[in-house]
Amino acid sequence: MNKNEFISIKFDLVNGLIQWYTRKYHIKLSELRDYAYDSNEVDKLIMEKGDYVIYEVYEIERPVVEGEMIFGVTRIFPGVIGQEYNFTRGHYHVNKMAGEIYVGIKGCGLMLLQDLQGNFFTEVLERGSLIYIPGKYAHRVVNTCDEDLVFLFAYPAIAGHDYELIKKCGFKKVVLNIEGKPTIIDNPKYNK
Ligand code: 6PG
Ligand code: NI
Repeated sequence: MNKNEFISIKFDLVNGLIQWYTRKYHIKLSELRDYAYDSNEVDKLIMEKGDYVIYEVYEIERPVVEGEMIFGVTRIFPGVIGQEYNFTRGHYHVNKMAGEIYVGIKGCGLMLLQDLQGNFFTEVLERGSLIYIPGKYAHRVVNTCDEDLVFLFAYPAIAGHDYELIKKCGFKKVVLNIEGKPTIIDNPKYNK
């Protein structure tokens, strides 16, 4: 078998960084405006500090065909947007058969999970967590600690991402810093 069919790279188990990837992208504060608990806080922060990076993703892309898998690492920087801890946009996989695996490498936070029936769950995602997400659950990660939250992910290449539904309906709950403690409250903007 041709050796080039394999991908074998160095992965730093302390900081979670991978030595090689085919795509790196980041999401800035302004890109979270439509997803935030309080979009006025997004505007306010941009005025004060400029449009900074909330999280970055290092990905190993693969052909979008059945059997292939896409994998990589996400790093969410610590911080709050108003009271809301830094978070990923969150998405449904278009292909509801496409599950995903997350492995926590560094830091700590929460994963928010919800399905189209309105069921909602949270799971702790921290160094040493291994979470399997069945394909029907939208997933978002929130960094509730004061260091980077870094996790590895792997999912079928045919999964596809639906961000629009989350943009429109939101997650049922949001995670806020209330008196220094991560607090899960109902999202007043949630509309299902
Ligand atoms: C995926 C993974 C993961 C995720 C990033 C950023 O399906 O691609 O869940 O790679 O995309 O952690 O999160 P958002 O895609 O929700 O911005
Ligand atoms: Ni996903």
